Amino acid sequence: MTGATGNVGRLVVDRLVRAGVTVRALSRDPARARVRFAEDVEVVEGDLARPQSMAPALKGVDGMYLFPHAATAPQVVALAGEAGVRRIVVLSSGAVTTGYDTDFHLPVEHAVESSGLEWTHVRPGEFMLNKLWLWGPSIRAERIIREPLPDAAWYPVHEQDIADVATAALIEDGHQGAAYTLNGPELITRRAQVAAIAAAIGAEIRLEVVTPAQARELYLAQGGFAADNADFLTGFKDYSGAEADPSAKQEFDLAMLGPMSTAEEVTGRPTRTFAEWAHDHARDFLAGVPSAGF
Ligand SMILES: NC(=O)c1ccc[n+]([C@@H]2O[C@H](COP(=O)([O-])OP(=O)(O)OC[C@H]3O[C@@H](n4cnc5c(N)ncnc54)[C@H](OP(=O)(O)O)[C@@H]3O)[C@@H](O)[C@H]2O)c1
Repeated sequence: MTGATGNVGRLVVDRLVRAGVTVRALSRDPARARVRFAEDVEVVEGDLARPQSMAPALKGVDGMYLFPHAATAPQVVALAGEAGVRRIVVLSSGAVTTGYDTDFHLPVEHAVESSGLEWTHVRPGEFMLNKLWLWGPSIRAERIIREPLPDAAWYPVHEQDIADVATAALIEDGHQGAAYTLNGPELITRRAQVAAIAAAIGAEIRLEVVTPAQARELYLAQGGFAADNADFLTGFKDYSGAEADPSAKQEFDLAMLGPMSTAEEVTGRPTRTFAEWAHDHARDFLAGVPSAGF
C-alpha cells in the first residue's frame, strides 16, 4: 500500500485488514504512520520519488495500490515486477477520462499498462472531501461559507466509494484491465451541498457569494488544500496550470464528464450520496481539525 496514510489509502488498508489480507503500508514517515494502523499492519519506509527506496518494501508483495507519482512510475512499476508483484491498482483521476490529465495520472496508467502485470485504474472525479478542506475552517469558526459559484453543480464522490472499488480491484478477480471512472450518484449544486452539511450538523450555515478573486484571496489565506489549489478552484488557472479566465468557469459542460460509472457497478452497493457524506463528517465540521487530510 503506497499512499497508505492518504484519505483513500487508509480506508483501503482498513478494508484489506477486515478481509484478512496481510498488509504492508509504505510511508515516507513510518513513525507517524505507525500510530494510524492496527498492529498487524506492517509499516515500512519508502519514497516514490526515490524508486530504489521502494525495493525492500516490494519484497513478497502480491498486489500493490499505487499512489500516483508520474516522474518515477516506470521505475517503480519495473521494480514491482522484478519483486514478483502480480497486480497493481492505480489511484488515478477522472480527469484522465475527460482528457484533461496528461501529465499527472496518465503517465502512471501508461507505466502500469505496459508492465505486463495485471492492472486496474481507479479514476475518481471530484472528492466530496474537498469541501471539508475548503469549507471546514469557516464553518467551524463562523458557520459561514464564502463561495463564488453557488449554483455550480457536479457529481462529487465519497472517499469510501473510491476505497471500496480499489479494495475490490486488489482482492477480487474480474477487474483486471478496467478503468473505473467514479463519480457520485447525483448532480448537486454547491448550494445544495451547503444545505446538506447544515442538515448534518444541525445548524444554520450562511452562504455568502463572493467574487472569484475574493475567493482566491480567502483560499490563499486559509492554507493547505485551499491555498495549494486556489488558482484552479477559482478558475484563474486550468487543469494543466495555464492562465484561464475565471468567468469561463461559470459554464459547466456535462458532456466533458465522459463515461460515468459509479462504484455501485463494481461493488453492488448503492453509491453514497452527499447527504450521507455530510453525515459521516458532521463531527469534522463541528469542531477541531479533521484527523487526516491535507
Ligand atoms: N481531491 C480530488 O478531488 C481528487 C480527484 C481526483 C483524483 N485525485 C487524486 O487523488 C490523489 C490524492 O489521494 P488521497 O487524498 O488519498 O491522498 P492524500 O491524502 O493527499 O495523501 C497522500 C498520500 O500519498 C503518500 N505519498 C505522497 N508522496 C509520496 C512519495 N513521494 N512517496 C511515498 N508516498 C507518498 C503519502 O504518504 P506519506 O506522507 O505517509 O509518505 C500519503 O499517504 C491525488 O493523486 C489526486 O490528484 C484527487
